[in-house]
Amino acid sequence: MQKPNKRLEGQTAIVTGANSGIGAAIALALGRDGANVVVNYVSHPEAAEELAHQIDTEDLCGNALAIQCDVSKEEQVVTMFRQAIDHFGTVDICVPNAGLQRDAHLHEMTLADWQMVLDVNLTGQFLCAREAIREFLHRGMRPKVSKSLGKIIHTSSVHQIIPWAGHANYAASKGAIVMLMESICQEYAPHKVRCNSIAPGAIKTPINKAAWDTPAALAELNKLIPYKRIGVPEDIGSVAAWLASDESEYVNGTTIFVDGGMTCYPGFTENG
Ligand code: BGC
Repeated sequence: MQKPNKRLEGQTAIVTGANSGIGAAIALALGRDGANVVVNYVSHPEAAEELAHQIDTEDLCGNALAIQCDVSKEEQVVTMFRQAIDHFGTVDICVPNAGLQRDAHLHEMTLADWQMVLDVNLTGQFLCAREAIREFLHRGMRPKVSKSLGKIIHTSSVHQIIPWAGHANYAASKGAIVMLMESICQEYAPHKVRCNSIAPGAIKTPINKAAWDTPAALAELNKLIPYKRIGVPEDIGSVAAWLASDESEYVNGTTIFVDGGMTCYPGFTENG
């Protein structure tokens, strides 16, 4: 574990999809840097409550609150922000992270598979970013806690640039996040909002279990990773905590790929 750092003390973060995988690691990393954290979940309340309890009780961490909300539903997102603001006073850091896959070959993909992925992965990120910006603008600067009015950190994917056969809905949702994030930056940076994305590569979480849960699958996966190891959620958590802090103050409108080099197309090492 990294040494605790107080760089987010006095700030409140909402992390969506925070009861497992990458979201949980981000919530914990922000909490360990002193932020109060809303641990959002849609199912498995026990996992969210357990993480919130860990953040609440661990030395030097901020406080935590688990809130259930389906990020694809406007009224639920509005209510989650209202609950967070009532509880902690404001929101300083928004990490729209909740995402899912409904994989199918395109000719077999149902509209429901397409729509669900776009609703959660893209509309959910829009709704959370919009509510965060509304709160940032309404609240105004808090120079004692941050140099920025607020920070938004989208969770994207290497598939915002790497096409992905059998996952067109997922890749389309992540490709769209680039333009969402960069447009938010262009529009609100003059207000001192920072909006960036983290694009994880293959990170060991339930979403891609089939790609790592046998030695043969893992060996295949490693062919796509120049660094030759699968990522772990903490690889993303530490970047998110830095992006949320004033240490990255001049970083705005950028996607940080955290992928062990996956976007350097290792398939071309001996080919092409
Ligand atoms: C996907 C994973 C996949 C990784 C690399 C992620 O965005 O959710 O399933 O392993 O990209 O392909």
